[in-house]
This record gives sequence, structure tokens and C-alpha cells, in this order.
Amino acid sequence: MPIDPTAATTATAEVEVALHVNGEPRRLRLEPRTTLLDALRDTLELTGTKKGCDLGACGTCTVLVDGRRITSCLTLAVMHQGREVTTIEGLGGNPEGALHPMQQAFVDHDAFQCGFCTPGQIMAAVALLAEGHAGDDDEIRRWMSGNLCRCAAYPNIVAAIAAAAGR
Ligand code: FES
Ligand code: FES
Repeated sequence: MPIDPTAATTATAEVEVALHVNGEPRRLRLEPRTTLLDALRDTLELTGTKKGCDLGACGTCTVLVDGRRITSCLTLAVMHQGREVTTIEGLGGNPEGALHPMQQAFVDHDAFQCGFCTPGQIMAAVALLAEGHAGDDDEIRRWMSGNLCRCAAYPNIVAAIAAAAGR
């Protein structure tokens, strides 16, 4: 079958994508194939969200979309028109620089070593609390199992989440 050059051009043509990111409306021009992760990191320069595997396996790219956690490397930005995206930069709220209680719990419990996985861990942990999955340590481990930590800070991560849950 001959290659249709028009189709190739259309596939890479930029489209307008309107998102709410950390409470602010943002309009981007992106190729339709752009992942939400790349839009956040490369276009909006919100580099707090990390790219680990880029395959949906490590959880380090976790962000919230309309309050639900997703792996931003596995979804296209264009699929989230008009939605509210929250990254680690937007978690603390005002005043600027204030820590979210989950961030403070991670600090208090020394729940990181190199810190590369930490933004994703914290975003997943915030969602986990909202989902009501922090009943005990086993439940926390189960519902955080999509977030890997190469430094194996798992005991401290569980302790931080348990503390943020008020246990
Ligand atoms: Fe998205 Fe690993 S970078 S799951
Ligand atoms: Fe290093 Fe988790 S703190 S990968």
C-alpha cells in the first residue's frame, strides 16, 4: 500500500490542548502523540514529575487528574482537555512554598534517599488517602505497590503515609 504523505503530516500536526494545571488555565500547542508527562516536563517546565521507565511500570510520573492518580507517561495530553491536573509543584497550595501534610510527613519520617521516586510516591499517597486505602500498613503497601523505590525506602514511606492518615 503506498504511503499517504498527507496522512503523515496530519499525524504530527500540532493541536491546541487546554488544561488546568495546578489551578491555572494553560493552553498548549502539542503534537497529538505528546504524553501528559512530556507536556508537563518539556512544555510547561514542571520537572517535579519524574520520568523513570516511561512504560507505566514504576509510578514515578504519577500526577492527579481531577483528583485521581494516573501514570502520566501512559496517557496523552490531548485526552485531558479541560481537566484539572495537579503535580507535586501544585500540592502545597498557598502560601507558596508551604508543604502539603503528606510532604511534611515524608520529611518527618525520612521517607526518601535519592528522592527520584518521591514526587510520584507523594502524589500516589495523597490519592490513596482520598480513596480510603490507608486502613493499616498492609493496605498501604498494597495500594502503593505501583510506585517503586530503587532506594527501598518502603518502611519509611509506609510510616509517613500512616502518620498522614492519623495513625
Ligand atoms: Fe511513568 Fe514509570 S515513568 S510509570
Ligand atoms: Fe531513591 Fe526512591 S528514594 S528511588
